Amino acid sequence: MSQQPLPPPSALNLDNIQGDILSGLPKKTQTYFFFQITDARLFRSQLVEFTPLVKTVAQVIKDRKAIDDHKRKGDKTLITMVGVNIAFSHKGFAFMGIDDANLTKTETIFEMGQKKDAQSLGDKGTTVGSEFVPDWEPEFLQDIHGVILVSGDSHGTVNKKLQQVKEIFGLAQGPNKSSIKAVTSIVGDVRPGKESGHEHFGFLDGISNPSVIGFDKDPNPGPKPVPAGVLVTGHEGDPVATRPAWAVDGSFLTFRYLFQNVPEFDKFLKDHPVPLPGLTPEEGSELLGARFVGRWKSGTPIDISPFRDDPELAADPKSEEGFCHRNNNFRFQAEGSFQKICPFAAHVRKTLPRADLEDLPPNGISIQKNRIARRGVQFGPEVTKEEKLTGKTIHGRGLLFACYSTSIVNGFAFLQKSWANNPTFPPESATEVPGLDPLIGQGQRKLSGTDPNNPSFELTLPDFVVPRGGEYFFSPSLKGLRETLAVAA
Ligand code: HEM
Repeated sequence: MSQQPLPPPSALNLDNIQGDILSGLPKKTQTYFFFQITDARLFRSQLVEFTPLVKTVAQVIKDRKAIDDHKRKGDKTLITMVGVNIAFSHKGFAFMGIDDANLTKTETIFEMGQKKDAQSLGDKGTTVGSEFVPDWEPEFLQDIHGVILVSGDSHGTVNKKLQQVKEIFGLAQGPNKSSIKAVTSIVGDVRPGKESGHEHFGFLDGISNPSVIGFDKDPNPGPKPVPAGVLVTGHEGDPVATRPAWAVDGSFLTFRYLFQNVPEFDKFLKDHPVPLPGLTPEEGSELLGARFVGRWKSGTPIDISPFRDDPELAADPKSEEGFCHRNNNFRFQAEGSFQKICPFAAHVRKTLPRADLEDLPPNGISIQKNRIARRGVQFGPEVTKEEKLTGKTIHGRGLLFACYSTSIVNGFAFLQKSWANNPTFPPESATEVPGLDPLIGQGQRKLSGTDPNNPSFELTLPDFVVPRGGEYFFSPSLKGLRETLAVAA
């Protein structure tokens, strides 16, 4: 296959890149439809009809402008909108007869699949013979060849589009006519009312995602923009120097099915308020939650406003007044090797350590290659009265975690294994062991730094987030779909 020379940074072809990668498909609801291919030749011929449905970055930009214009008119209704994207696992490429050696040569975990990587991610499970079987939902223990993402304004719009997709692959005509078999479908929904944009523990999410050089024209103040190749294959910053034409303008998609024990989380905060003089127990509990995440529920970074929430600042990505008045413009820099302001193990410090590594003596360590574009959505109902009262989860809920990068090894897997699960990360603390990321850390779940006046005090935590499935995928370009994967019958 021909190898593509790297295009210059300005040459991002937005008509060739799937929309979720750089822009995030607009969504109030999103269905992940996981499938196995049963007839490769038929499936590849049906891709000819499917591919025009795939929404590109250029189309998402237009959609977002239409949404903004609609909102500006003061109209509170939602525009009917739907977006489809697709991605394949290594097993899917192999089943279709596509040589993906260029993808697997540096990404052995993509080749293995996430189920085989689960033990090293720290997921719980049992060893049967020589095989580790994670405690996942049974569907995710099966082979998954691909996932189709359908996002939109309402269940009605999404279901209608999904039905059209199923018809293309013959699923509506019964198993003998179809080229694929459904493994499972998971529906995610943005939370209702003022919780919109907040994950189930209550914290505003999706504030900090990488700005991309050559794409984001006016990035908000905050972490340095990344070269496009950190997120899109075949561009400067891609860890692989050459890609076959079909693998250019794509991205690896990591999916994780993460359940959140929300009533247990809330009860834990209530039972362990930070004992800071002058705070009520409720305020102490709120502070503990903020120190777990590194942001208040509103999104205010505790590195900027450590002991009280500041919703005005949270809502401000960019104001010019005052250096710090921006919701992503902080570096954990003032602290040096201390954690009075923000615990070393706080979720946002573990997953983007900013000055902790960038300013590490003698020369600093770049974290550009470890950036990921997160595109998750919530699933499951709001906490019920009974769950609140008992402090126990009855109904499953959590995060359909999804992120893109040109390397899963440097991206998601590195963040989970080398940072979140690593008690001695970040490394600059001389006296205190940071402990695990209190949200997603797997292993001996304890952390220090929750009490600003007693930073070496360690808190032992129950599981708040439980992984119940996942897979590693590659989301190819439109050209790749049209010219390599799809084959006219
Ligand atoms: C249920 C599980 C999770 C919850 C509840 C959660 C929640 C949050 C929240 C509230 C934020 C702050 C908002 C923001 O900065 O955008 C955040 C940021 C972030 N999370 Fe998670 N997250 C979860 C899983 C993960 C996983 C599995 C990873 C990767 C291994 C991850 C990586 C990140 C990153 C990279 C950031 C941005 C850090 C920054 O740029 O400052 N999260 N998360």
